[in-house]
Amino acid sequence: MYKDDFFTYQAQTTPHPLGLEVSHAKGSYIYDQEGKAHLDFVAGVSACGLGHGHPRVIGAIKEQVDKYMHVMVYGEYVQRPAVEFTKLLAAHLPKTLETTYLVNSGTEAMEGAIKLARRHTGRSQIIAANHAYHGNTMGSLSLMGYEERKSAFRPLIPDVRFINFNVEEDLAKITEKTAAVVLETIQGGAGFILPENGYMEKVRKRCDEMGALLIFDEIQPGFGRTGKLFAFEHFNCVPDILVIGKGMASGLPAGAFVASKEMMAQLQHSPKLGHITTFGGNPVIAAASLATLQELTETDLIPQTLEKEKLFRKLLVHPLITEVRGKGLMLAAMLETKEVADYLILEAAKRGLILFWLLFEGRAARISPPLTISMKEIEVGCDLIITILNEYKPDTVN
Ligand SMILES: Cc1ncc(COP(=O)(O)O)c(C=O)c1O
Repeated sequence: MYKDDFFTYQAQTTPHPLGLEVSHAKGSYIYDQEGKAHLDFVAGVSACGLGHGHPRVIGAIKEQVDKYMHVMVYGEYVQRPAVEFTKLLAAHLPKTLETTYLVNSGTEAMEGAIKLARRHTGRSQIIAANHAYHGNTMGSLSLMGYEERKSAFRPLIPDVRFINFNVEEDLAKITEKTAAVVLETIQGGAGFILPENGYMEKVRKRCDEMGALLIFDEIQPGFGRTGKLFAFEHFNCVPDILVIGKGMASGLPAGAFVASKEMMAQLQHSPKLGHITTFGGNPVIAAASLATLQELTETDLIPQTLEKEKLFRKLLVHPLITEVRGKGLMLAAMLETKEVADYLILEAAKRGLILFWLLFEGRAARISPPLTISMKEIEVGCDLIITILNEYKPDTVN
């Protein structure tokens, strides 16, 4: 219905978008214009942790829209939803992560974190990991550990170095020149790679020795996806700055960076207005964020993700699946080849199951469903995956 106009008027990011024509979405399903239900194993790329149209979130949004929407640029007026959200978030974080700066997206949160690290340390060097993804604006793009995706946009911000994730010897590159080390707690685009052998604790130790800050990008694993509210809780390691987004507002655009009160206060002077944004802390988005956090922390959805992970791992057994990577409901089915992964994702799309690719790992099929997905829905989706793989012939063209 809108497809021609979509291709004519709306900017595209690839020559071959999936192009599902959305009518509405509810729970674990997205419905197309023909009324066909598509089981959503992607959840808006980990953004819709509570599924589609969660009543608590919708209720909070509607209540707030009726009261007021945007009233003032970030940080000037006292607005209940943002205050309550940041207070509740602090209650679920270590004391050193007490103060939250609300922004509009993950990449903007990363920009704020980089600026804060430079401002706080007086140093400029940022260290990131190869195959890392932190967003697409110039600062966070500079931290992307994948040259092919960024070389066309150079020059990027200077003084960025790279280490290999999980490689202890590389930690020697962190020195007294380093303002901050930025790491995803679980590398997403790279293929859902977990830290191993106490890696995060070793990074933390080296940062402390060198006076460098540690920044964790929890934009994807945060808000319960890995079986803890934030994934760093698995790794016995607290960052100096925590960067969050995606699942924070259950599908509304949101991001934030969190640090100690003392560190964050530095954005108020020398220069004043060290980071500013018009819509950060928007009351409607903050109301959605508050409802999301309340739901996640008042129910057993987060521990349940680990039970759901077990079911996925039990069902996703097939000769063409070499491994299931990740944690909780941040999973990647690793296929034998990129061709098999493409076949599976495209064929599943035709048959009403939504899977997706990872940015830098062609053999992966992303499985990041809503945390609210039922065991039955997991079974239905996994059955379909196995059926599709059973039908694979090496020369299959989608
Ligand atoms: C780990 C990570 N960092 C940063 C971002 C960027 O967030 P946004 O797309 O909201 O700017 C993403 C988004 O995919 C992400 O997964």
